Amino acid sequence: MRISWLLLLSTAAAVELDVDDPDSIKSVSRQVATNMLSYYTGMNPGDNPGNLPDPYYWWEAGAMFASLVDYWFYTGDDTWNDITTQAILWQAGGEGTFMPENQTRTEGNDDQSFWAFAAMSAAERNYPNPPDDKPGWLAMAQAVFNTQAARWDTGSCSGGLKWQIFTFNNGYDYKNTISNGCFFNLAARLAKYTGNQTYADWADRIWDWTKSVGFMTDEYQFWDGADDRQNCSEFNRIEWTYNSGVYLLGAATMFNFTEGDPVWKERTQNILNATTAAFFTDSVMYERACEPVDTCQVDQRGFKGYTARWMASSTQMAPFTYDHVMPLLRASAEAAAETCTGGDDGLACGQKWVTRKWEGEEDVGLQMAALEVIQSNLISRVDPPVTDEHGGTSKGNPGGGSTPPEPKPSSLTMDITTKDRAGAGVLTGMVALIVIGSTGWLVWD
Ligand SMILES: *[C@@H]1O[C@H](CO)[C@@H](O)[C@H](O)[C@H]1NC(C)=O
Ligand SMILES: *[C@@H]1O[C@H](CO)[C@@H](O)[C@H](O)[C@H]1NC(C)=O
Ligand SMILES: *[C@@H]1O[C@H](CO)[C@@H](O)[C@H](O)[C@H]1NC(C)=O
Ligand SMILES: *[C@@H]1O[C@H](CO)[C@@H](O)[C@H](O)[C@H]1NC(C)=O
Ligand SMILES: *[C@@H]1O[C@H](CO)[C@@H](O)[C@H](O)[C@H]1NC(C)=O
Repeated sequence: MRISWLLLLSTAAAVELDVDDPDSIKSVSRQVATNMLSYYTGMNPGDNPGNLPDPYYWWEAGAMFASLVDYWFYTGDDTWNDITTQAILWQAGGEGTFMPENQTRTEGNDDQSFWAFAAMSAAERNYPNPPDDKPGWLAMAQAVFNTQAARWDTGSCSGGLKWQIFTFNNGYDYKNTISNGCFFNLAARLAKYTGNQTYADWADRIWDWTKSVGFMTDEYQFWDGADDRQNCSEFNRIEWTYNSGVYLLGAATMFNFTEGDPVWKERTQNILNATTAAFFTDSVMYERACEPVDTCQVDQRGFKGYTARWMASSTQMAPFTYDHVMPLLRASAEAAAETCTGGDDGLACGQKWVTRKWEGEEDVGLQMAALEVIQSNLISRVDPPVTDEHGGTSKGNPGGGSTPPEPKPSSLTMDITTKDRAGAGVLTGMVALIVIGSTGWLVWD
C-alpha cells in the first residue's frame, strides 16, 4: 500500500521540470536516471560490469557511464559512482585501452571512443580516481588515443580511421564520420588537458582530412561516411546530430587550446549555426534522419543526448557560444521532460521531444538522451574542465596502449553477424538508409 502511494507521488512529480531552478533540474535528472538504470544489472554478482542486456550494444553502456560521470558532476549526487567506476575499470582492462576480448566481434573505433569519453570526462571533472594499481582516467584516454593513432589508414581516401578495428568484421571497408569525429574530439581534449602539442597536431590533421575527403561539406554538414574500396568517392549522405555535436566540442576545445584562434572560432560558430539550422525546430532538437519517419533504431535513440552533452561542454571551452546554445538546451530539456510520462513508474521518456509526448516505447537511449539534455542545463553552475596544470589529479601515461593486443585467432572462426554499432552506417542497409534519410528530410520539410 505504502509503496504504491509513493509511486503515485513520484509519477505526479516526473514532468515538473523548472529549468530555472537547479533543484528541479537535479531531481528530474535523478528520476530519469533511475529509470535508465533499471536496465542495468552488471553490478550484480555473476554479471559483467559494464554490459547492458540485449538489444543494447557494448558501446551504449560506455555512453551511459559517461552520462553518469556528468550526472555526478552536475548534481553532486554520488549514488551511482560505485557502479560507474566498477564498469569503467572492468571494461578498460589492465592496459586501459577498452579493448575487451569479449567485444572483438562488435568493437569499432567509435565504440571504443564512447568508453574513452567516460574516462576523459572523469579526468576533466576530477571524478574520484581509481585505485593506484589501475590506469588513471587520463591514462585510459591516452591509451585509446594511441591505439587509434596507430590505426590511421592512408591506404585509401588519403587517410582516416576505418569504422571497424578488425578485418573480419562487417564495416572494415567503411570509413565513417563518427569514428573520425570521436578521434578528433578526444585529441582536442587531450591537448587541452595535457598541454601536449602532439594531440593538437592530430586534431588539426583529422579536421583537415574530414574536410578534404568531403565528410564535412563547405556548409558544415556532416555525412555518415563512405566505402573506402571506392576511395571514399560515394558518400552515405545521412546526417545524424551526433556527428555535428562531436565535431562541435572538438572545435570549441581547439579554440580554447589555441587561446582564441579566430580560425577555430569561425569553425565552431559555423558548426553551431549549421547544427541549429538542421536539427532544431522551435529551438527543440530532433533526429532529422529518423524521427519524422519513425525509424530510429536502438543505437540512434540516444544520439540527441550526446549532442546535447557536447553542446553544453562547448559553452565552457568557447564561452562566446553560450548565448546561442543555452536557449536551445533549455527548450529541448523542457520538451524532453514533457515526454517522460511512460512506463510503470511514469518516468519513461519518449523519442520525439518536438511532439512532447511519450510514444509507448521504453529504452535506455531514450532515457539517456533526456537525462543528458536536462542535466546539461546546469552547465553554467559548474566549473570548467580541469587540466594537468589547473586542478587536475588524474594519472596519465602518454605511452599507454602503444602495443594493442592482437585479436585472438579464434575470433576469426566466429560467425560474422551484421550488427549496428555506434556508427549508424550498416553497410548492407546503406541504400535503404539513404532512402530513409532523404525521405525523412523530405517529409519533414
Ligand atoms: C567476458 O566474458 C566472460 C564470460 O562471460 C566474463 O567472465 C568476463 O567478465 C567478460 N569480460 C568483460 C570485460 O566483460
Ligand atoms: C582518393 O581520395 C583522396 C581523398 O579524397 C584523394 O586525395 C586521392 O587523390 C584519391 N586517390 C585516387 C587514386 O583516386
Ligand atoms: C577557455 O576556457 C576557460 C574555461 O571555461 C575560459 O575561462 C576561457 O575564457 C576560455 N578561453 C577562450 C579563449 O575563450
Ligand atoms: C550564426 O548565427 C547567428 C544567429 O544565430 C548569426 O548572428 C551569425 O551571423 C551566424 N554566423 C555565421 C558565421 O553564419
Ligand atoms: C606527447 O604526446 C605524445 C603522443 O602520445 C607522446 O609520444 C609524448 O611522449 C608526449 N609528450 C609528453 C611531454 O608527455
